[in-house]
Amino acid sequence: MRVLLTGHQGYLGTLMAPVLTAAGHDVVGLDSGLFADCVLGSLDAPDVPGLAIDLRDVTSGQLMGFDAVVHLAAPSNDPLGSLSPESTYDINHYASTRLARLAKDAGARASSTPQPARCTARSPATTWSTRTRRSSR
Ligand SMILES: NC(=O)c1ccc[n+]([C@@H]2O[C@H](COP(=O)([O-])OP(=O)(O)OC[C@H]3O[C@@H](n4cnc5c(N)ncnc54)[C@H](O)[C@@H]3O)[C@@H](O)[C@H]2O)c1
Repeated sequence: MRVLLTGHQGYLGTLMAPVLTAAGHDVVGLDSGLFADCVLGSLDAPDVPGLAIDLRDVTSGQLMGFDAVVHLAAPSNDPLGSLSPESTYDINHYASTRLARLAKDAGARASSTPQPARCTARSPATTWSTRTRRSSR
């Protein structure tokens, strides 16, 4: 399958990319590069081609030709959500649900977004937890 892996430069994305590639999938990443200056060493993972764009700016044309989307791009924790509630809402809720809609319209047959273990119905209602929970539905 041709797979779009958002957040491919993050903690989970750098682990997920080689797993998908080893399983025979054709992987393309999408990441705004928030932590590009923080890489401490070289990665053993095979490089995957990537779109250096912000999730909020993705267009339907950029999603053409993918069979599946694995969506990991996000401000990924409570401290980031507290630092910038507006952008956490924009990315984790609005841009994430928009991505799912655009990808489906462009022909993707499957999508996956993580449900963080800490982000359940019983989690404290922080900006990060409520926005992440809503977009996972
Ligand atoms: N790390 C964990 O243990 C864990 C467990 C369960 C679920 N999750 C969830 O999985 C997802 C990924 O987690 P992670 O630990 O890899 O996070 P991470 O912060 O290491 O990586 C997130 C990546 O998303 C990118 N990104 C952020 N905002 C973006 C935007 N607007 N446009 C494009 N790219 C953007 C960043 O540049 C970064 O490379 C998050 O939703 C997180 O809540 C993580």
